[in-house]
Amino acid sequence: MFDDFPLWPERASTIAGHVDALFIFLCVVTGVVSLLIWIALFYFAIKYRRRPDNELAQEIEPPKILEMAWVVIPTIIFLGMFVWGGWLYFHMQAVPANALDIYATGRQWMWKFQHPSGQREINTLHVPVNRPVRIVLASEDVIHSLFFPAFRTKVDVLPSRYRTLWFEATKTGSYHIFCAEYCGTLHSGMVGWVHVMEPTEYQRWLAGGSEGSMASQGEQLFQKYACNTCHTSDSTTRGPVLAGLFGKQVQMTDGRIVTADENYIRESILNPQAKIKAGFPPIMPTFQGQVNEEDLLKLLAYIRSLGEPTLPATTTTTKVTK
Ligand code: CUA
Repeated sequence: MFDDFPLWPERASTIAGHVDALFIFLCVVTGVVSLLIWIALFYFAIKYRRRPDNELAQEIEPPKILEMAWVVIPTIIFLGMFVWGGWLYFHMQAVPANALDIYATGRQWMWKFQHPSGQREINTLHVPVNRPVRIVLASEDVIHSLFFPAFRTKVDVLPSRYRTLWFEATKTGSYHIFCAEYCGTLHSGMVGWVHVMEPTEYQRWLAGGSEGSMASQGEQLFQKYACNTCHTSDSTTRGPVLAGLFGKQVQMTDGRIVTADENYIRESILNPQAKIKAGFPPIMPTFQGQVNEEDLLKLLAYIRSLGEPTLPATTTTTKVTK
């Protein structure tokens, strides 16, 4: 409806229309209420101005129905805003299962993106159209905020943990990327472009040269940092088996059950003592300060890529006889 109206950036994602509808509703409601208040203010100021025969104010008892109206009507409107906003918020948080993962790091003052197949880019991001894309992000220094105005989505990027954001672009073309959190001198220069492409074009772009997939780069780091000396494919050794770990529920020594998601794996690398898997000694050294954000994401991609553990023959037999 407002596509050519210059107040709004282009709408190029599945949620853009929903976000704008809510925003317009809030603006109209607050605008109309403000206008009514101003009109009433001027009307009463003139009507009840001080006159020589009316020096003292008279108390007025407003009708009960009027009092009810100004409590009940705004309550209904506010609850409506809450429900609408809550619905949209949850919709924006729920990442579709078929989303394509892209990893990103923010730093003073650039955005670095890496695709699972290994392609890297700085301040540009190539994505396919009509496909949900999930971005896993961390910051290498201070707080940044990744903002795609045309997709109506934004997330703060923190130095201490992973955040995620998703969108599904609905139109091919190039759209702005901004940093939306003041992060130092060149904050205003921390900008870029997202290029939305046809899926076939995206595949062709992906195929154009890279240094191996993120998972294979992660595997090299896994060996470089000697992770493989403890985390072997056999659980009797010093570290837990990592194959098939991602996304599973894991029991800790203190009885807690946690999900092995991005943040759990990140914490286990940087601060291994924070959560110790039940049945294992707390012997892992910290890799804080040794592994940078980009390498962490590669290790994460490698751990994610490890499939189900290969079951020893006995277990398989037990399963069959069950
Ligand atoms: Cu990064 Cu502002």
